[in-house]
Amino acid sequence: MSKSPSLRLDRLLANLGYGSRREIGLLAKADLIVLDGAPLRDANQRIAVTPDLSGRMVVDGDPLDPPPGLALMMHKPLGVTCSHKEVGPLVYGLLPERWRRRDPALSTIGRLDKETSGLLLLTDDGALLHKVIAPKSNVAKRYRVALDRPLKGDEVMVLGSGSMLLDGEDKPLLPVEMEVEDETHVVVTLHEGRYHQVRRMFAALGNHVTALHRDRIGGLTLPDDLEAGAYRILTEDDIRAVLGAPSLA
Ligand code: URA
Repeated sequence: MSKSPSLRLDRLLANLGYGSRREIGLLAKADLIVLDGAPLRDANQRIAVTPDLSGRMVVDGDPLDPPPGLALMMHKPLGVTCSHKEVGPLVYGLLPERWRRRDPALSTIGRLDKETSGLLLLTDDGALLHKVIAPKSNVAKRYRVALDRPLKGDEVMVLGSGSMLLDGEDKPLLPVEMEVEDETHVVVTLHEGRYHQVRRMFAALGNHVTALHRDRIGGLTLPDDLEAGAYRILTEDDIRAVLGAPSLA
């Protein structure tokens, strides 16, 4: 017995951004929706939404887009934003046009600043999003940081203390791990995600971040062959890696 949810064909495709239910009905009547090699002429019929559906269904000559439950990693380039509140092109513009009409919508799992590059996760799965960003999940995020001025020498101790306060806040930061690469390059690992945290931490230490790149979330590292602006669908193993990395707790 299958546990997969089932949806009417017209609802499934409309939710994936292929058009209105009426338009999907027309596609079906024109034999342009094919499942396992056979045209589906009745857009009202229910379809089991299994993870393998994209490999089995063809719409207007192309494989069906990934069904809901989609999770992606993106190599966010500099200059694009994660939020409609910021000025500039959005990360969603780097995805296929149809994906912007999906319901449930894709959203970023946390955010990177416009001038931060690196590993960004997106999903339409609210439960996954919550698992990654919930404070008790304690998913670590690693950043490579370039600094304007040479380190003074006390940064590892101050950041690791668990008592550092950011400007305007009264709750100390959780301990931050910091590895020094050279006097203006460090790698920091955070176990929480406050607004502009890395930039504000170094500002509080009297320095200034000149470049910021996230290369790891939990146990998932940004692949070397994923170029800036490119994205990839997460596998089950990738998701396990995000959630399963050792935590501070
Ligand atoms: N900290 C920042 O300051 N910016 C980011 O984009 C992420 C972490």
